[in-house]
Amino acid sequence: MSLSVEQASAWRDDGFVVLPNFVPGTQISALTDRIGELVDGFARSPGEATTVFSTTERTHAQDEYFLTSGGVIRPFFEEGAFDSEGNLQVPMDRALNKLGHAMHDLDPVFDNFSRTPELAALVSDIGFVDPLLLQSMVIFKPPHIGGEVICHCDHSFLWTEPQTVAGLWFALDDATVENGCLWVTPGGHRQPARTRFHLDGTGTTTDVIDPVPYDMDSLIPVEVEVGTLIAFSGLLPHWSAPNTSEDSRLAYTLHVIDDTADYLEDNWLQRGPDLPLRGFA
Ligand code: FE2
Repeated sequence: MSLSVEQASAWRDDGFVVLPNFVPGTQISALTDRIGELVDGFARSPGEATTVFSTTERTHAQDEYFLTSGGVIRPFFEEGAFDSEGNLQVPMDRALNKLGHAMHDLDPVFDNFSRTPELAALVSDIGFVDPLLLQSMVIFKPPHIGGEVICHCDHSFLWTEPQTVAGLWFALDDATVENGCLWVTPGGHRQPARTRFHLDGTGTTTDVIDPVPYDMDSLIPVEVEVGTLIAFSGLLPHWSAPNTSEDSRLAYTLHVIDDTADYLEDNWLQRGPDLPLRGFA
C-alpha cells in the first residue's frame, strides 16, 4: 500500500487525496527543463498554430487542431496570443495555455515521469485494476494571464462506462489562492456528471444531463507545494481562478482510465492503431 489509512479514507470519502512531496526534486527539475526545451522549440517554430489561432473567432481549423491532438504533442495558446498575421503578440512563455495530449507516450522525459513504480502503486491503491494512461497536459497558467477554468468534472470530457476516470495533478510550482490553485468540492464525487462533451458528426456537442449549476460555495482551495500530487476522482467538481499574481502556476496532469470499463467511441480523444493506450509498464 502506498496510501496511509487516512489517505485511503480521504480518497473514498472526499473524492481526492493530497500527497505532499510525492515527486522528488530531481524529477521536477527534469520535467521543467524538458518543458522549457519544448517551449523554446515552439517559440522558434510555432508551425500550424500561427494559422490556426490567427483569428479571434473559433473556427473549424481550431476544432480540428484540438480534436486531433490526442496522439501528439501540441501547444495551445491563450486567447489573443497571435495577431491576424499569425505573429505572436506576447513572449511564448506568456502565450501558452497548455501542451497536450500525448506527452506521456511520445516524450521520453514525460514517459519516465508518468510511469514510476510509485505512481503505479498509488493508482492500484485507489482501485484501478487495469490502468491505461489516457491523456497528459502541461498547464501553464502564466502570471496575470492564466484564466479561470470553470467548475467541471473530468468525466464529462472523458467518458467510460462505468465511470473510472481519475486525474493526477502534479504541482510543478507552489499553488496558492493567488496564483490559481485547484478548488474542489469534498464529497462531490458522489454526484453524477452534469454534462457530457462528445463527438457529434464532424463536430462536438455538450449534452446537459442536469442543468443545476455546481454549488460554488462548496468549493475549498487546495494550496500545495511544488512536488505535491493531488489525485482526484473523475466525478469530483473542481475549479480554478485566474492567476492574478506575479508567480507562475505550472502543473502537469495525467488522466487514467481502467481498461475493465468501456471507453466510448464518441469521446473527443481517440487514438489511432499506431499509438495504442498503455498502462504503467
Ligand atoms: Fe479538470
